[in-house]
Amino acid sequence: RGYEYIEVSEPRPGVGQVTLNRPKALNALCSPLIAELNTALRAFQASPSVAAIVLTGSEKAFAAGADIKEMAPLTFSEAYSGAFIESWSELTTALKKPLIAAVSGHALGGGCELALMADILYCTATANFGQPEIRLGTIPGAGGSQRLTRAVGKSKAMELILTGKSFSGEEAGRWGVAARVFPTYEALMEGALKTAETIAGYSKVAVQAAKEVVNKSQDLALRDGVEYERRVFHSLFGSQDQKIGMKAFAEKKQPEWSHR
Ligand code: HXC
Repeated sequence: RGYEYIEVSEPRPGVGQVTLNRPKALNALCSPLIAELNTALRAFQASPSVAAIVLTGSEKAFAAGADIKEMAPLTFSEAYSGAFIESWSELTTALKKPLIAAVSGHALGGGCELALMADILYCTATANFGQPEIRLGTIPGAGGSQRLTRAVGKSKAMELILTGKSFSGEEAGRWGVAARVFPTYEALMEGALKTAETIAGYSKVAVQAAKEVVNKSQDLALRDGVEYERRVFHSLFGSQDQKIGMKAFAEKKQPEWSHR
């Protein structure tokens, strides 16, 4: 499909994969790379053959950050008027299908933030996460101060962001940043693809609704979130798949989803 900085594949039934592929710069996230990533994710979102997506890098680097050489000369007005980094958010707003980040090696700065945007984060024990922006005289700019703080709590996030010190995949697992930690890159990819395949086997309507309500928990107060969940839950009684799923249970059969 003519991408320069990413590779796109469909390695399992229902599963799309984007592999960041800018090895010379440890997958530093230059603007054209982000544009390609958004294009690929939009295509997966529109594709009927893809129901869940895995985003990964290489064994050595998920992504070593935003592209420092691209950022270095930017002025305030260029960054502000050009809405620098704003397009990164497309990933969290346009994508309704679940995204699993499979992180091995460096996930620093914008790379860490990109991983934190995923719905599920898996990593290797030796993955190298961090928000080192303070060392460059700046701060996280793609949601790191917000998402990392929600993930690990204020004190730990403050320490990480103010010192720029990195944390390991093993720590990411212990702190709940990562849902699962794997001993090798191969095990990581197998685990991520398997989870994506499992999700892809369920009703697309239910999966989209489940992702939507979990994400609401990040934005809403508890009472509003619970009410929001109940409304969406009620609405699923209007789906065919709720009838199909519950009937199949009663008949001790496997459901055949209509995805409606
Ligand atoms: C541009 C980068 C880069 C980056 C690495 N490279 N990270 N280029 N932007 N973020 C390039 C190097 O310049 C080098 O190019 C090549 O990749 C290999 O990197 P080395 O440093 O030689 O590799 P190594 O010694 O193994 O060290 C790996 C590393 C180090 C520890 C990850 O590269 C590093 O510290 N990178 C920067 C990490 C960082 O500060 N990230 C946050 C960026 S700020 P050449 O041409 O010399 O071979 C950020 C802001 C986010 O992300 C806010 C908005 C999103």
